[in-house]
Amino acid sequence: MTLIPEPAPDATTSGQDATTSGRDGSAALDSYRRAAIIGGGVIGISWAGLFLARGIDVVINDPRPDIEGLVLAGLDEITPALAALGLPTENLAGRLSFEADLATAVAGVDIVQENGPERPELKQRIWQTIEQAAPAHALLATSTSSIPATAIAQAMRQPERLVVGHPFNPPHLVPLVEIVPGEKTSEDTVRQAKAFYTALGKKPQVLRKEIPGFVANRLQSALFRECVHLVAQGVVTEQELDDIVTASIGMRWAVGGPFRTFHLGGGPGGLPHFIEHLGRAMETSMWPALGTPAFDDSTVAVLIDQARETFGDGTVEELAAERDRAQIALMRALDATPDSGSVSRA
Ligand SMILES: NC(=O)c1ccc[n+]([C@@H]2O[C@H](COP(=O)([O-])OP(=O)(O)OC[C@H]3O[C@@H](n4cnc5c(N)ncnc54)[C@H](O)[C@@H]3O)[C@@H](O)[C@H]2O)c1
Repeated sequence: MTLIPEPAPDATTSGQDATTSGRDGSAALDSYRRAAIIGGGVIGISWAGLFLARGIDVVINDPRPDIEGLVLAGLDEITPALAALGLPTENLAGRLSFEADLATAVAGVDIVQENGPERPELKQRIWQTIEQAAPAHALLATSTSSIPATAIAQAMRQPERLVVGHPFNPPHLVPLVEIVPGEKTSEDTVRQAKAFYTALGKKPQVLRKEIPGFVANRLQSALFRECVHLVAQGVVTEQELDDIVTASIGMRWAVGGPFRTFHLGGGPGGLPHFIEHLGRAMETSMWPALGTPAFDDSTVAVLIDQARETFGDGTVEELAAERDRAQIALMRALDATPDSGSVSRA
């Protein structure tokens, strides 16, 4: 599996050139000239940067009065990462515009990627407007991290057009996009979403069933619940816990998922032996002992105090840039590793 996508050729000027070829299938981007990004926060900015670097003109819709400054500053921050991916980054802001009226913003676009607040009623309202104003051919995707498309599309006249395209933060960098069809999403919409994200250089995964939180975030939630429990109980500090993760399961899961890992953990007998040998003990002694913490005042105070102490030296922007550099280095290393395709496909 290639984690760093082949850059499309010269997209530095109009963006049109970027869509014409590319070994990664970026020819499919030919039909995506213009995108509407609804909600220009953390995720919206990241998508906008990637879309622009892939040669797609972007219009941002967000009611914040200071949205222009925020997005332009955000774009500056992620530009080094886009350049490190080999994407053209000259004058990205030249193909970026802002439109405060939602219906006007989506008129004439080929893709709408919605990244508004995670509130079901608000998303429902936003999408009712979008479906009436966006062209019939436009791909309609929401970045929601937990709300099923079925719920968001409840009030839509054409629910078959909406699909979840859930990125992993930051979307300009992390390969995964979970494509989650709602009960009424059409197969055509799913196919279109898969082709689009693939052409963008992402690694889309279509889920076979709709489930709140989807897959990657459910996994994160399960692990984070235990992280909060361990820190709240004083077993380790946040820094110690992060060190344990990056030196063990973090590294491990970058090259093989949990099932492949435990298949190897079972020795020559593979996963069947692992389940007999260690899995049953995990079920009886470990699973019932896992924590069920709450974000009560005292737990939150512990978490915030430690975060200040641990991460207080750098701004979030500096820490994000550091993360981006390391993430790209890791992706490059995996891409350069013989046979890493079969391993990381686990
Ligand atoms: N942050 C993450 O790690 C992450 C990861 C994947 C998906 N998501 C999803 O992406 C979406 C956005 O999350 P975020 O972290 O970027 O949030 P954010 O708070 O950073 O950004 C949300 C933006 O939406 C804008 N907004 C508010 N009302 C709006 C409206 N009516 N129309 C258009 N824009 C409006 C806000 O002004 C804000 O700029 C959410 O659905 C979230 O679940 C977040």
